[in-house]
Amino acid sequence: MSPQPSLIWFNGKIVKSEEANVNIMTHAIHYGTGIFEGIRCYDTEQGPAIFRLDDHIRRFFQSAKIYRMNLGYTEEELKDAIKETIRRNQIRECYIRPLAYFANVQLGIHPREVKIGVAIMLTELKLYLGTGKVGIRAKLSPWSKIDNAALPSMAKGTGQYLSSYLSSHDARMDGYDEAILLDKNGFVAEGPGENIFMVKDGKVYTPSLESPILAGLTRDTIIKLLEKENPVIEKRIGISELLTSDEAFFAGTAAEITPINEISGYEMKSSEEGSVSMDLRARYFNLVRGRDKNYSHWLTIP
Ligand SMILES: Cc1ncc(COP(=O)(O)O)c(C=O)c1O
Repeated sequence: MSPQPSLIWFNGKIVKSEEANVNIMTHAIHYGTGIFEGIRCYDTEQGPAIFRLDDHIRRFFQSAKIYRMNLGYTEEELKDAIKETIRRNQIRECYIRPLAYFANVQLGIHPREVKIGVAIMLTELKLYLGTGKVGIRAKLSPWSKIDNAALPSMAKGTGQYLSSYLSSHDARMDGYDEAILLDKNGFVAEGPGENIFMVKDGKVYTPSLESPILAGLTRDTIIKLLEKENPVIEKRIGISELLTSDEAFFAGTAAEITPINEISGYEMKSSEEGSVSMDLRARYFNLVRGRDKNYSHWLTIP
């Protein structure tokens, strides 16, 4: 069994987790001024393999650019840091959390002097959504997805996740496993930390990137998997279309491919044997676990 990941890469050094601390006056704690990524490393026959590391780090730098954060490291340096953190923790499978934050110790929204802190944490993460049985229940959230004109949905800014917290908490309070957020015009956007797909008459749909959603890498993986045989249709999706679809599923690094069996009382056949969702789920696991050689370029061995 792998040991618990107890070492953190913190501003250029590997330290014990209890030594990776910040001051309570830190800007990021008060104003949500941080950016992050979520990446998975899978145990494969070739050893631990990080899924789509290059793309995740590219997105991390894009988030930094939007929030005008100079990380002080190159993409290559941070990729090496992630690989080193996995090696030093001697872990075979984990969730990887790179984080950058405004580290200045000073109150006031616009900091006079900007200092950026960067950390890489690992954690064990098996199942992110649901209780173990395949297929979950989702609730249409009373909270709308923040509009792009207010906060850029293409960036993973820590403060943006207050909205995700509100919606997922509301869903769980009502006994559901996860929330689905609509945009300000009532079209389907995404989950609090996942993109959403629906299947109708064998065709696969997902909200287009004009919607206020994250350009998820799992979303992109599904689009590429289906490119030739049954291209995913990217469009605006209304609630009635979603509720009358045959199947729906969440797609995200943490959620992987999670079939949705019910949305706010409307039942779906997403986790039934032979469903498109279950087929994609199996193909996704095959791919991330290094069993589909067509996609081995997406795996990085640390
Ligand atoms: C709001 C949001 N949407 C979608 C996703 C899925 O993105 P990815 O597949 O790149 O993990 C995430 C997770 O990072 C997210 O936080």
